[in-house]
Amino acid sequence: MNSLTLESPAKINLCLYVLGKRPDGYHELLTLFQRISLRDRVRFRRTRSGFRLQCRHPLVPCDSRNLIEKAWRLVQSRTGLRGGMEVILDKRIPVAGGLGGGSSNAATTLLAANRLFGLRLSQPDLMEMGRKLGADVPFFLLETSRAIGRGRGDELQPLAGATKLSVLLTLFSSGISTKSVFESLSRPALGPTLTKLNCDIIMISVFLASKDLKGCSTLLRNDLFKAAHRMKPEIGRVLSFLRNSRPASAMSGSGPTVFSLAANRVETEAAASEISRKFGLATWVGSLY
Ligand code: C5P
Repeated sequence: MNSLTLESPAKINLCLYVLGKRPDGYHELLTLFQRISLRDRVRFRRTRSGFRLQCRHPLVPCDSRNLIEKAWRLVQSRTGLRGGMEVILDKRIPVAGGLGGGSSNAATTLLAANRLFGLRLSQPDLMEMGRKLGADVPFFLLETSRAIGRGRGDELQPLAGATKLSVLLTLFSSGISTKSVFESLSRPALGPTLTKLNCDIIMISVFLASKDLKGCSTLLRNDLFKAAHRMKPEIGRVLSFLRNSRPASAMSGSGPTVFSLAANRVETEAAASEISRKFGLATWVGSLY
């Protein structure tokens, strides 16, 4: 096999609870990852030597800052692989949007290199490499629609089953740096116990499975919201507007993207038009995947 084209999916965080700061500088999280049908397309081609990444998106760096190149270098150093790779990235997932696009691309690169070069890296090997590249990368190495993330978000518990629900994303014209959102977090107030939060996260999944969005809505808390909102107050305005008629709405990851779930696609498309008209923002309509 000389070339391979893979889809690189986006995720939303249905909820994201920050439990505290860790000694390694990261934050201890409890989150529920969910794949959605928004995807980048990535074409990988084996070459004799060197590495080249092409992407037309103006905000995507095509050099060593890109997680695709970082993933490739990690594969090389880990396996001693000779040979090269050319990558063409068709970027559709908003950059720095809280949708895990870069992390997903990194995971896709690990999977592609493994297949293209017949490296026989095991799932635990891939997960360990993914963790080195970023806290969200391991989720994209799992073939699962939904998973609970603990620790930095990279200790994963896949959940069975997928739910067909429509998703509306409200996209903002510029992104927010995850690092700066975490850095500007205020000290967490004493919140619910870990037992309660673990229960809540399971309940979200149960409500989703039965498409009970009202039940779900009270639990879709994102502890990064306040910090992201301080940087981009528009997130709050969009969210308040959406929540009036669509309670199952929240910010994803470190923002700014806001998601909103509904059972009905037609109604979701109508809400998307309303958001574009009222706020002049781009939207995307798809489904949980
Ligand atoms: O792991 P990743 O490089 O995607 O994370 C980006 C930044 O987000 C980290 O440098 C860190 O500042 C912050 N972060 C955190 N706690 C987490 C995940 C990310 O503080 N669990």
